[in-house]
Amino acid sequence: MSVPRVLITRRVPPPAVELLRDAGLAADVCDQDDPPDRPTLLKRVPGVAGLITMLSERVDGELLKAAGPSLRVVANFAVGFDNIDIPACAAAGVRVTNTPGVLTDATADLAWALILSAARRVVEGDKLVRSGQWTGWTPLQLLGLQLTGSTLGLVGAGRIGTAVGLRSLGFGMNVLYADERVNPELEQRVGAKRVALDQLLPAADVLSLHVPLTPQTRHLINAARLATMKRTAILINTSRGPVVDEAALVAALRNRRIAAAGFDVYEHEPRLTPGLADLPNVVLLPHLGSAATATRQKMSRMVAENVIAVLSGREPPNPVN
Ligand code: DGY
Repeated sequence: MSVPRVLITRRVPPPAVELLRDAGLAADVCDQDDPPDRPTLLKRVPGVAGLITMLSERVDGELLKAAGPSLRVVANFAVGFDNIDIPACAAAGVRVTNTPGVLTDATADLAWALILSAARRVVEGDKLVRSGQWTGWTPLQLLGLQLTGSTLGLVGAGRIGTAVGLRSLGFGMNVLYADERVNPELEQRVGAKRVALDQLLPAADVLSLHVPLTPQTRHLINAARLATMKRTAILINTSRGPVVDEAALVAALRNRRIAAAGFDVYEHEPRLTPGLADLPNVVLLPHLGSAATATRQKMSRMVAENVIAVLSGREPPNPVN
């Protein structure tokens, strides 16, 4: 009997490959850091029993058909799974899993790195010093937003939104959140108040996005909503790029409709909307939310454990369908 094959679409940190091999599975790794192109992926999937995918791989009917009936599990190396056609997987009898929880703290930390960088103009300051054009301290140089006493607005208060909100305690901020559900932890620990999104937008000094990408959240932050924000506000996105209409964001930053932004994710990732990278009042990171060594190792363990569970006929620990 041949050993079931699990395709990993990228090099990943340990221990995924080792765990799969210890479980008697053949780990077939696309030996590259960048995403395999679509024809390569389609060529490598026939006959696989499991697929470990990244957020950049589209898992749809075409890919499932190319993989064929041997495919039993798709383990996404991410908490978000907007890259996967869940109904198509369900129809094909393929289980889908993700990596919730283990990247909450790393992503919340990175959201705060963006909040602080955008509020206190860290990147502009760094550029000024490096350029050799800094002529010394002045009372009006690169003035930014004082976080203490200002209002943090969370759009979405799930795991990551909650962790971002809890970190605001150290900065003495007021916290408002918009979410379908009441969040007792945020309310009790930081005195957060739940409000409707149209109340949150004009009240927030820092607006941080923590919703999954769904048809309902695509372009949730559009020109009309940006126009209701404070002119001094900062927009932070560590969720998914298409939650923001990036052309509208470029216009809002250019016209100083809002003061600044800090982005880790992009609408057409990894391409940027023209004009975005030319603006001084935006901090741009290359989707680093979960990029902490310990976090990525936990994600690696989790995807392997999910694959092994399904291929051994057990319920996976992190099922999506
Ligand atoms: C996720 O897990 O959804 C992240 O965006 C990947 O780091």
